[in-house]
Amino acid sequence: MSAVIVVHGGAWAIPDELAKASVDGVKAAACEGFAVLKGGGSALDAVEAAVRTLEDNTVFNAGHGAALNSEGEVELDAIIMDGRTLASGAVSSVKNIANPVSLARAVMEKTSHAMLTSRGANLFAESIGVVTVPADTLVTEYEREEWEKHKNYVTGVMEDFNSQWAHDTVGAVAVDSAGNVACATSTGGIRNKMVGRVGDSPVIGCGGYADNLSGAVSCTGHGESILKVTLARLILSHIEQGKSAEDSSQASLQYMGDRVHGAGGAIVVCPSGRWAATFTTERMAWAAVDQDVLWYGLNPDERFKEQLSK
Ligand code: GLY
Repeated sequence: MSAVIVVHGGAWAIPDELAKASVDGVKAAACEGFAVLKGGGSALDAVEAAVRTLEDNTVFNAGHGAALNSEGEVELDAIIMDGRTLASGAVSSVKNIANPVSLARAVMEKTSHAMLTSRGANLFAESIGVVTVPADTLVTEYEREEWEKHKNYVTGVMEDFNSQWAHDTVGAVAVDSAGNVACATSTGGIRNKMVGRVGDSPVIGCGGYADNLSGAVSCTGHGESILKVTLARLILSHIEQGKSAEDSSQASLQYMGDRVHGAGGAIVVCPSGRWAATFTTERMAWAAVDQDVLWYGLNPDERFKEQLSK
């Protein structure tokens, strides 16, 4: 079967000034992840590579460029999950790790736990030789200026982004040529969040889930809403009932809107290779590579394609 990767750079009211860089960034990350799959790498390797690319790109709210909390600090969350075994690893509230997705993978592979937080995550990182960076090096000038402008959690984001919840996150889902699926999600959370606030992204079944029996999902959007409806798992439960990836995502996001007034987005891939990128926010930067065709979009109902060289 042919391998597929889908990535997102966050569902929110992406301002025009970030639109092109966001689309370019997700296209580059999808190509990076697809190169891993094409080289015989696993779905797990591909989603980690794609999310690392997004974490390194300062346009996205993850790793470098992450949103700042109420004290002006970075606190990062990430998850990775392997659909073969249902093994998962996550980190939350880490401050000085440039690529939290790789630390999450180490939690999955090198500990008997599913999530490490804050100081414990750092102690673990140190014990396995993961390089830490000064936390300030993850803060961009753009984010510092936005943070200064919007010290109020709710009114600030409404004014600037014309959206109840300004947020974004990055993520990737993939199926490899052996039919194994995986997901990864990484975020700085919501600007001006309380110190220690953890959103949906590192929580299994909420920010992501992967199961070879149904598919892999990575979510983005208002974390507290996603947590209430366990969005990733909800989407897969629709797939298990026989719905398509697209219909399952749409029904679940609609449910989240109706039930808890939350907006967001999701990317999904099934073991069959069928995939979807769906959102209820104004925009979501997404890209997918399927059979050497690069698909991408930003606005609702938008789907562009480019043929990649074989
Ligand atoms: N969806 C990311 C967050 O709310 O933290």
